[in-house]
Amino acid sequence: MKKFLYGIDFGTTNSALAIYDEEAKEIHSTIIIPSLIYFYQQFSATSDKNYVVGEDAITAYLNDDMKGRFIKSVKQILSRSSFSETRIHNKRYNASDLVAIILKELKDRADQLIGQDCRKAVIGRPVFFDDDDVKKDTLAQTRLNKAAEIAGFEEIRFQFEPIGAAFAYEKSLVKKENVLVADLGGGTTDFTYLVLDPEKVGSKDRKNDMMANGGIYIGGDSFDSAFMWEKGTPYFGKNTQYEATPGKVLTVPKSLFVNICSWEQMNFFNGLRIQKDIEDYYYFSGNDRKFKNLITLIENNLGYSVFQSIEKTKITLTNADTAKFTYHKMGIDIDEKIGLADYEQIIGKDVDRIANYLDDFMLKNNIDPKNIDSLFLTGGTSMVVSIQKLFKNRFPHVNLNSGDNFKSVAKGLAYSGYLFDN
Ligand SMILES: Nc1ncnc2c1ncn2[C@@H]1O[C@H](COP(=O)(O)OP(=O)(O)OP(=O)(O)O)[C@@H](O)[C@H]1O
Ligand SMILES: [Mg+2]
Repeated sequence: MKKFLYGIDFGTTNSALAIYDEEAKEIHSTIIIPSLIYFYQQFSATSDKNYVVGEDAITAYLNDDMKGRFIKSVKQILSRSSFSETRIHNKRYNASDLVAIILKELKDRADQLIGQDCRKAVIGRPVFFDDDDVKKDTLAQTRLNKAAEIAGFEEIRFQFEPIGAAFAYEKSLVKKENVLVADLGGGTTDFTYLVLDPEKVGSKDRKNDMMANGGIYIGGDSFDSAFMWEKGTPYFGKNTQYEATPGKVLTVPKSLFVNICSWEQMNFFNGLRIQKDIEDYYYFSGNDRKFKNLITLIENNLGYSVFQSIEKTKITLTNADTAKFTYHKMGIDIDEKIGLADYEQIIGKDVDRIANYLDDFMLKNNIDPKNIDSLFLTGGTSMVVSIQKLFKNRFPHVNLNSGDNFKSVAKGLAYSGYLFDN
C-alpha cells in the first residue's frame, strides 16, 4: 500500500490540504475550502450531520434565508480562554469540535482521492495564535491538536505556517538564498527568515537554517472590520440621535456597532434576539431609518452577506483605483464609491502596525536588509496594494516574489515530513 502524509493549513479564511506521496516524494494533489461552517436552521432528527462546510456553507446559508448559524473565522477562538463552548440547538460544541468539522471535511475529501484512511498529518500554526502570550498559545495548539484527533488523525506534528510557505518557495529556487517570507492571511501576518537551498528540500535537519520567526495578529479580517467600522456602520445608524429624556438628545452608543464589526462577536455572542435596548433606541430615535437597518441586520443574520460586499470592494481595489461598495437586501441600500486612497487610510492603522512589527522583527533578530537575497510574499492579504507598497519601500533592492497565495503553506507543510524522524 502506498504511504501518504497530509500537509494541512487550517486558515482563518481558507483551509488547504496537500497530499504528499511519501514514496514518489511528491505532492499528489491539493484541496482548498473556505473555512466556513453553516448549521441549518432546522435540525434533522434523523441525521447527526446538521451542518455544511466550505463553499456549500454559503449556498446553504442563502437557501435557508440566512436563518441558521453561520460560523466564519473560527480559528480566532482557538486562543480565547473565555470561550468554552457554544450551544447550537441541543448540542454543545467546544473550540476543538468546531475546528474538527473543517479538518474532517478536508480529511474525508483527501481520503477519497487516495482511497485510504490517512492518519498522518503535519498541521500548520501561526507563529503566535494571538498576541505574544505563552498561555494562550499553548491553549490554542492543544485545542488544534485535539481537533486533529477528533478528525481522525493519529500521527500529528506542527509546523509554523510561514516555514511551510518557505518550503514551498524553496522548490522553485535554483540556488541557496537567504529569504524573508511574509505570509499575510485573514487572521495573522507571519514572518520567517531562513536559508533556503533547493538541494535541501525534504531533508532532515533544518534547525540551523531557521534564523528568525515572528508574527502579529492582524490580517485581512482586521482590514474588513476597519472598513465596516468606517464605511459600513454609518448605514446601520452609528450616528443616530435619540431623545434620552425629554429635550435631551444623545447619539446612540458606539459600542452597539463594535459587535457587527467582528466575527468573534457575530459568531458567538450576538444571539438572534434583538436586545431590548436596541428597540428602545429605535423608538426614541423616532424610528430612524438607518438605525432600523441595524435591527434588520441582527434579526436576519445578514452579517456574512455584508462582509461579502466589503471583501469584494477590497479585492476590486487591488487592481483598480476605485470600487463600489454596494449592498441591497431587505431594505438596506448601500451604494458608495470608494477610492484607493480612502481605502488606504481606512486600513492605515493596521498596515502601520504590521510595518512597525516588521521593523522590530528585523532589529531584534539583527537582520540586515543587505543580506536578504529574496522576499517571498504569500497569503490573500499580500495582494493588498498598501501591503505591496510596504514591502517595496522597505526592501527596494530585494527581489520580490509571490505566488500560490492560497496553497503554498499547505504544500510546504507536506514537505515537512522530516518532523516525524526523531
Ligand atoms: N485579491 C485579493 N486582494 C486582497 N485581499 C484578498 C484577495 N483575495 C483574498 N483576500 C483576503 O485574503 C485573506 C485570506 O487569505 P488566506 O487564505 O491566505 O488566509 P488564511 O490562510 O485563511 O488566514 P490565516 O493564515 O491568517 O489563518 C482574506 O482576508 C481575504 O479577504
Ligand atoms: Mg494562512
